Amino acid sequence: MSRAPLYLDHNATSPLRPGVFEAMTEALRAGGNPSSVHRAGRDARARVELARGLVARLVGALPSEVIFTSGGTEANNLALTGTGRRRVLVSAVEHDSVLKPVAHSEIIPVDREGVVDLAALERLLAAAPEPALVSVMFANNETGVLQPIAEVVRIARAAGALVHCDAVQGAGKAAVDLHGLGVDYLSLSAHKLGGPTGVGALVVRSDAPLVTDRRGGGQESYRRAGTENVAGIAGFGAAAEQAALRLEATELRDRLEAALLAIAPTAVVFGAGAARLGNTTCISMPGVSAETQVMALDLDGICVSSGSACSSGKVGKSTVLEAMGVAPSEAATALRISLGWDTTAGDIERLIDAWQRLYTRVGNSDMFRARAA
Ligand SMILES: Cc1ncc(COP(=O)(O)O)c(C=O)c1O
Repeated sequence: MSRAPLYLDHNATSPLRPGVFEAMTEALRAGGNPSSVHRAGRDARARVELARGLVARLVGALPSEVIFTSGGTEANNLALTGTGRRRVLVSAVEHDSVLKPVAHSEIIPVDREGVVDLAALERLLAAAPEPALVSVMFANNETGVLQPIAEVVRIARAAGALVHCDAVQGAGKAAVDLHGLGVDYLSLSAHKLGGPTGVGALVVRSDAPLVTDRRGGGQESYRRAGTENVAGIAGFGAAAEQAALRLEATELRDRLEAALLAIAPTAVVFGAGAARLGNTTCISMPGVSAETQVMALDLDGICVSSGSACSSGKVGKSTVLEAMGVAPSEAATALRISLGWDTTAGDIERLIDAWQRLYTRVGNSDMFRARAA
């Protein structure tokens, strides 16, 4: 009898938390356009505003500071292009939706653990007088490495810069607080914290500038034109409420890493020397390509991803591991395991067992080493 699938790829997307599906179907059934003045419209508006309050509470913001978007990508694009600052500095390990919107962004390097180089940030900011926007993520999607956002803010402020933080992988997995961090802009995505895909938010401090070139209606206080995705937003709110109650702990991740390193002592946990999210492990299996690992574990009913899964679904080069100075041959063996709100101790034992069997079968195979060389 085949076993139930085991999903350990929460950084790609996290299954819906309890209550989210119900909140969404209720909203779909009720219908209504939040801009309409009649009862149906007012009900839809109430759902949107309830969700806005819950999302704001998750990140210590005011409801009026939350702008709903179609996801993390749109939130990042809006922040990177909407502050009015033409000079933009981004860290080398950002998601493509931060790296790509501004063609001429300056890159802040990271160290071997994947932590942003603060001295380099200071030097870059001092090199030109033009006020800048600095964008540094809260936590990395591949390694889980946390960035020193408070320090980034201190340095940026001293140079008169605005600060954006992509917290798509942080919110719901660690405590994220707009005002506590001191950033001006924070990006969120519902599906990374147990909400639906296709909805997210840019959280903008009340006193921070934001101009958008999107033309249309006056929704989201004229900051994001387009009829709101009411069901998606309702699901986002329900997930945010759950996420606020249950921030993930590190015990399962620590147990997993200790067991995998005992099986393969030469395996490397990338970013292990830095503060990391409690749910993410990016680990090499010596001698076995990430592609082989993902496929073999999939046959065992376990969903994980390669350290460098790209949007096409193929295994591409990891720019994150490259920026950390990891050799391409080693990066090609990196597996990303990301736990979530529904992961149990039994799930971890099942993965350890499958990893052990795979490593015993194909680990250190000369064939792969020859191919990687
Ligand atoms: C760090 C980070 N930022 C932004 C995004 C994009 O979010 P969305 O899928 O909601 O567009 C992702 C998605 O993988 C991410 O990991």
